[in-house]
Amino acid sequence: MPVTDIGIDMGSSNTVVYTKGKGIVINEPTVVAYDKDTDKILAFGEEARQLIERTPGNVVAIRPLKAGVISDYSVTERLLKHFIQRALGRRAFRKPYISICVPSGVTEVEKRAVEEAAFQAGARDVTIVAETVAAAIGAGIDITKPVGNLVADIGAATTDVAVISLGAPVILSTVRVGGDTFSEAIARYVRRNHSLFIGEGLAEEIKIKIGTVTSRPNSESMQITGRNVITGLPRTISITSEEVRQACGEAATEIVETIHGVLEKTPPELSADIVERGIVLTGGGARLEGFEELIEDRTGINAMTAENPECAVAEGCGLYTEKIEQLSRMER
Ligand SMILES: Nc1ncnc2c1ncn2[C@@H]1O[C@H](COP(=O)(O)OP(=O)(O)OP(=O)(O)O)[C@@H](O)[C@H]1O
Ligand SMILES: [Mg+2]
Repeated sequence: MPVTDIGIDMGSSNTVVYTKGKGIVINEPTVVAYDKDTDKILAFGEEARQLIERTPGNVVAIRPLKAGVISDYSVTERLLKHFIQRALGRRAFRKPYISICVPSGVTEVEKRAVEEAAFQAGARDVTIVAETVAAAIGAGIDITKPVGNLVADIGAATTDVAVISLGAPVILSTVRVGGDTFSEAIARYVRRNHSLFIGEGLAEEIKIKIGTVTSRPNSESMQITGRNVITGLPRTISITSEEVRQACGEAATEIVETIHGVLEKTPPELSADIVERGIVLTGGGARLEGFEELIEDRTGINAMTAENPECAVAEGCGLYTEKIEQLSRMER
């Protein structure tokens, strides 16, 4: 297997690109700015996000992977091409070997479409990598050893939990709950309990600033402004981190239960490894405060978050072929 030049994690919320030698070179929203009037794509990634913010009306956002499935092939392809070309820059003297992770929910047909898009974008060869294996490598786990490791990648739309041994998932479970589920739950809570409509962006800001999934002795609070459900007028209220914890409780439990379910199905020899080595968390959603504690509380096993959890998959994707090569050399 040739050494990968570029590793790409096309997530439903963010796309992260790793290149050999340079590390993480792109970390931008998986979004395209589209002009409804002229039927043209105006910008990609971060530039698109800013353009959409500044130009309301005719310029709209297309998030082709929003719910973890490809909703628009041609947009996905153009976005992928854009990121690949930018990652390559002008040093592209030969066609690159590309490794790509796609959200775990995508079908075989969709995987082939992504593969095709990468070839269209100039790849010499394309490897599709299992997201959880990439997450494990990116988190610094040595996947070439015959020991069990449990990784939970908490993305925007989904959480993938897997036990990995000798470079492959042994047990795998996916739940359609991720970081965005928490934001949605917060918006719903504010609407029901404070009669206030708030947008996705503010809900996410609340989550990042004061969100938590475990009870804390000192609750923080935050002033937020939204639109009153009844009067339609703007109103400012204060929300506490304890309220946010309540709002997020159900989604957090679903993630913990998925981890629990995977542990139950794990063969005892591998379980012993996991107890010893702990549970590793990756994905931007793992940054929500209190996750490690909550998991430790409910499973009795140590949990730790990777250093840059949202970049782990891309980095692991970029290193995948080398690790697999190493593994097959050891088996020979
Ligand atoms: N500091 C933070 N606290 C809480 N949540 C955060 C924080 N930073 C990012 N997030 C959340 O992480 C999520 C994005 O994570 P990530 O980039 O791993 O998703 P993705 O890979 O695009 O999605 P998926 O893997 O589901 O396709 C978003 O829901 C975002 O709100
Ligand atoms: Mg992801």
